[in-house]
Amino acid sequence: MKILLTGIDGYCGWPLALAISKKFNKSKIIGVDNLSRRKWVNESMSNSAILIKSIQNRIKTAKKFGFKNIKFIGGDITNAKFVENLFKKYKFDIVIHCASQPSAPFANSSLHSATFTLKNNNISLLNILWSMKKFGKKNIRLINTSTTGVYGQPNFKIPEGFVEIIKNGKDTVPFTNLGGSWYHITKSNDLNNLHLANRIWGTRIIDMRTAIVYGISTNETVLHPDLNTRFDFDFNFGVVINRFCAMSVIDHDLTVYGEGLQKRPFISLIDFVKSITNLIKYKQKKSFEVFNQTTELLSIKDLAETIGKNARKFGAKSQVKFIRNPRVEKERHNMKMENKKFLKILDSKPTSFKEESVSIIKILIKNKNRILKYKESLI
Ligand SMILES: NC(=O)c1ccc[n+]([C@@H]2O[C@H](COP(=O)([O-])OP(=O)(O)OC[C@H]3O[C@@H](n4cnc5c(N)ncnc54)[C@H](O)[C@@H]3O)[C@@H](O)[C@H]2O)c1
Repeated sequence: MKILLTGIDGYCGWPLALAISKKFNKSKIIGVDNLSRRKWVNESMSNSAILIKSIQNRIKTAKKFGFKNIKFIGGDITNAKFVENLFKKYKFDIVIHCASQPSAPFANSSLHSATFTLKNNNISLLNILWSMKKFGKKNIRLINTSTTGVYGQPNFKIPEGFVEIIKNGKDTVPFTNLGGSWYHITKSNDLNNLHLANRIWGTRIIDMRTAIVYGISTNETVLHPDLNTRFDFDFNFGVVINRFCAMSVIDHDLTVYGEGLQKRPFISLIDFVKSITNLIKYKQKKSFEVFNQTTELLSIKDLAETIGKNARKFGAKSQVKFIRNPRVEKERHNMKMENKKFLKILDSKPTSFKEESVSIIKILIKNKNRILKYKESLI
C-alpha cells in the first residue's frame, strides 16, 4: 500500500507518520512538506517549546527504531505540476491531507495573510482532487483534515457533517457555515470542493472535522528526543491547552477571554493519531463520510482552572486571570457536538484532558528556559 501524507513535518503529521509506519510496516509512506510551519513560527518570534530536529534527521533516527518505510519529499503542494508528478510516479492507494496554514489569528491578522491562507489551503486541496481524478488508482481515497471550527458555536447539537432541510421536500446538505476566521473559511471552501468532486466524479472521501488538538508526545515520539514533534505556544500557532500549559510553567497568568464560558471541542494528539491510523483500513459505508474528530467539549474557564491547579502541584505560581474578550464570539451558547460515529473509529477509551495536561506540564518544566526565551510571543 502506498500512502501520501501531506504536512509530514507538522505537529500532527510527524507523529502520524510514525504511527502509520509502525502499524503498516509493509506500506510505503511518502511524506511531503515545504517546511513553511517552521518559518511561520519563526516569523511570530517564537519556537517549539521542545527541541525538534530537521525532517531528514527525524527520518534517520526513525529508521534506527524500526520505522523504515518513510520517505520525505520537499515541495509545495500549491504547485500543480509537483502534485501531478507525485501521483504519476507513486500510484497512491490513500492520501492523508494534513498540509495547511492552520492558524486562525494568523489568517485574520492582515489582508495579505488572509489571501495567503485562502490560496495555500484551497489550491492545495484542489490540486490533490484533480490529481486523484487524473492519475489516481481506481479505488484511491482521501482522508482530509478539516476542523470543527467550521461549525462556529450554534445553539444546537451539531451533527456529524450534514443537516436535513425540510421545507416543501427534504434534502441533506453539508454543514460548515459559521467559522470565525479566514482559516476556517478555507476549510468551508474545501468542503464545497470535496463534495463537488464526490458528486461529479465519485471521489472517495472522508472529511474529518478535527477538534483542537493538544498534547506533547505519542507512544512513538517518546522513543527518542530526535523523534519529538513540535509544541508551539505563541499567540498565532499555539492552541489554547498547549498555551495554558506553557504559561503555567513560567508562572505567567492564565489569561481567559471574558468569563471563559465559551466551550470548545478537543482531542489529544494521541487520539488524533490513533483514529486517523484506524481509518486506513476502515471500510467506507458511503463514498463521502464525515466524522467529528473530538472526544471532549470543555469551557475555557475549566481548562485554565484545571491546568493552573495541576501546575501549582509542581510549584508553579500562575493564577487564572479574566480579561476583556478581544474576539468577536459568542461567550454563552448551548453548543453540543455529535461524535458517536467517531468514537467507533477511535475504538478505545479517549485520553483524558485532566491526565494528559499533567504529562504536558511535566515535560514543559524541563524545557522552561526555552519558553522563557520566547515568552514575548505568548501574547
Ligand atoms: N492542531 C490542531 O489543533 C488542529 C485542529 C483542527 C484541525 N487541524 C488540521 O489538521 C491538519 C494538521 O495540522 P497541524 O496542527 O499539524 O498543522 P502544522 O502547521 O503543524 O502542519 C501542517 C504542515 O503542512 C505544511 N504545509 C503547509 N502548507 C503547505 C504547502 N502548500 N505545501 C507543502 N506543505 C505545506 C507545513 O509546513 C506544516 O509542516 C491541518 O489540516 C489543520 O488544519 C489541526
